Amino acid sequence: MESLIREWDGESMIIRFDRVAEAFIIIAVHSTRLGPAIGGTRMKQYPDLDSAVLDAQRLAGGMTYKWAASGLDAGGGKAVISLPSDLDPKMRDDLLRRYGAAVKQLNGLFLTGPDLGTTSEDMDVIAESGDPYIFCKSPDRGGTGNPGPLTALGVFTGIQAAAKQAFGEATPAGKRILVQGLGSVGQGLVKYLHKAGAEILISDVNKTIIQQFKEDFGFEIVPPDAVYDESCDIFAPCALGGILNQQTIPRLRCRAIAGAANNQLEVPEDSIRLKERQILYTPDFIANSGGIIGVISMETKGLTRKAAEEKIVRSITDNLSCIFKMASDEDITTDEAAKRLADERLK
Ligand code: PHE
Repeated sequence: MESLIREWDGESMIIRFDRVAEAFIIIAVHSTRLGPAIGGTRMKQYPDLDSAVLDAQRLAGGMTYKWAASGLDAGGGKAVISLPSDLDPKMRDDLLRRYGAAVKQLNGLFLTGPDLGTTSEDMDVIAESGDPYIFCKSPDRGGTGNPGPLTALGVFTGIQAAAKQAFGEATPAGKRILVQGLGSVGQGLVKYLHKAGAEILISDVNKTIIQQFKEDFGFEIVPPDAVYDESCDIFAPCALGGILNQQTIPRLRCRAIAGAANNQLEVPEDSIRLKERQILYTPDFIANSGGIIGVISMETKGLTRKAAEEKIVRSITDNLSCIFKMASDEDITTDEAAKRLADERLK
């Protein structure tokens, strides 16, 4: 734990033990160079405290890049609520309220919104004690609600850009696209792809959701353990991070990758492994920036939803065309190019 904290390149770590729920609250502030740290609140079980801290740190670092590349004045941060295996569901809301109070005590150093394991309704509860530092409350509480559909629009835009780069045409029509993870972003994404005429394959550990989408749209189902071996044009990881690694990359049978999951590369060198296999990688923190771009534009800059959506499409299209060009001109990975773009702004 000590070395995890000492060796991290971020600004500060706050770790609280919530004795009542026996949960750890971890807030990682990676950078406030461009503005207050803003990042989602992830809530789930972890094997141990070290892995929860590491997850918060890596996700916070990703947020710094995401904000910088999007040209928005915010810094990188992330919160993780590491749950015990046996949390009584009746204790959840009170835990969220105590978490909200912890965010408020930071006095604007860190602002938050939903992430894996939390919803817009949870933001309403957190905001009871955490306002005015909470984004994405439900619309009747003055928020913009679930950011999933905005993130999905951004990923869809990323897929169009990747299709243009890999196949010469910015359309997913007729392309075989495998979506891993049908959470709120994955669900929004398959709807965009379906409308655009893509051939869609879906995979999720949740069999009920998969079955529902198969019945409603007739999508082909890929079992979770067969995802990395399935032949497709574009692979869209929209579940957990770290899935592109030394073990999975040699198995992939796709031409391009563009998805919503944060931290898709297990280690930075995985981007080199993808480049060597000539698989076009759309950097995750660009492809999944639609949510934050949309939410910030609407909640702090007063843009309408339509104007915010236009901004998402423009920002992601422009960033990716610049990144793909830089990567090929300078013979570097797309991940490296995206980081250079973000670093440019951080300097
Ligand atoms: N889950 C979002 C992301 O990873 C975080 C977020 C959403 C932050 C909305 C603020 C507002 O990009």
